[in-house]
Amino acid sequence: MLERVQDAGDMTLGDWLDGQGTSPALAGILHHFADAADEIAARLRHAHLHGEQQAAGQINVQGEEQKQLDIIAHDIAVEHFSTLPQVAALVSEEVPDLIVPERAGPAAPFILCFDPLDGSSNLEVNGAVGSILSVLERPLPYGACDEAEVLASVPNQRAAAYVLYGPATLMVLTLGETVASFSLDEATGTFHLVESDLSIPETANEFSINMAHQRFFTAPVAAYVEECLAGETGPRGKPFNMRWAAAMVADVHRLFVRGGIFIYPALDKPGGAKGKLRFLYEAHPMAMLVEAAGGRAISGNKPLRDHRPEGLHARVPVALGSREEVERLAGHY
Ligand code: F6P
Ligand code: MN
Repeated sequence: MLERVQDAGDMTLGDWLDGQGTSPALAGILHHFADAADEIAARLRHAHLHGEQQAAGQINVQGEEQKQLDIIAHDIAVEHFSTLPQVAALVSEEVPDLIVPERAGPAAPFILCFDPLDGSSNLEVNGAVGSILSVLERPLPYGACDEAEVLASVPNQRAAAYVLYGPATLMVLTLGETVASFSLDEATGTFHLVESDLSIPETANEFSINMAHQRFFTAPVAAYVEECLAGETGPRGKPFNMRWAAAMVADVHRLFVRGGIFIYPALDKPGGAKGKLRFLYEAHPMAMLVEAAGGRAISGNKPLRDHRPEGLHARVPVALGSREEVERLAGHY
C-alpha cells in the first residue's frame, strides 16, 4: 500500500476547520458536505454497473434532462444537510422550490445553496463532474425563511466549496480568507489537506469558453476571444490555448492550477441574455473561491458578487479567473 504524502502534518478537513477557528455550526455544515461528497463519489464509481449514468426520463426546473445520478446526488445532499438544526433552508439545482427541512429551527442561521452534480452531461462519457456549495447566513431579524429571505442573504456569504470527482476526489474550500484543497481517502472517508493556500496565477495563456456559441457572442467577449486567438502576432503577443471540460467545476479547478479565464457569457440570441449558469449555486460560490485565491469574477463588467439575483434559479453571465485576463475582458466593455 502507498503511504500518504505527509503534508502539513497530515491534516484532515476537521483539523483544518479547527485551526481556522470555524464555529461548530459552520464546521458541521462543511463536514456534512464532505460526507455527502464521499457518498456521491462512491455512487459515481459504480454508476455504470447499474446504468445510473443514464437519463432519468424527466426534465428539471432548468429545462435540462436529469440523469439518474442528478437525483441520487440531490437526495444524498438533502439527506445529509437536513439533519442539521442550524440549516434553515436548502436551494438545490434539481428542485424548483426552497426546501425547508423538518429539523430546521426558526432561528437556524444558515441557508445552503448547492448544485448536487455539476456537469452531469459528462456522466455518459465518464468525464469529470462536481458538487458545488454556497453557505449564506440569514440577515437579522429572522422572518419566515422564504425566497425573499434567501435572496436577502446573498451579501452574507460565509463559505463556498466544490468537490471535483475526477481520478481523485478533491475538495476546494474557502471561508473567505484563503483557499485550501483536500483529497478524499476513500478507505476512511476522510478528506486530507493537500494545499493550504491556493492562489490563481495572475497571468495565464489559457481561456475556457464554449466556442460553439461564437456567433452569439456580444462585442466585448468576441473582442477578448479574438485577441487570444490572434496569438503571437496579435495584441497579446503570445499564443493561447483553449480548454472546455463542459463541467464548471472541472474548468474552474484548472484555474486554480494553471490560471486562465472561464467565461459563460450572455448570448445574443433569444433566451441567451443571462447566459446559462445559475447565480446562487454556481456563479456565486465560484466567485467567492476565485476572489479568495486572488482572482477576479465579473458579470458583464461589474463584480459578480455585487450582482443580486431575481430568483432562486436565476441565471447570470459569468467570467472569472486570473486577474489580468478578467480585467482585460472587462476593459472591452
Ligand atoms: O451546470 C451547467 C453546466 O453543465 C456547467 O457545469 C458547464 O460549465 C456548462 O453547463 C456547460 O455548458 P455547454 O453545454 O455550453 O457546454
Ligand atoms: Mn451545474
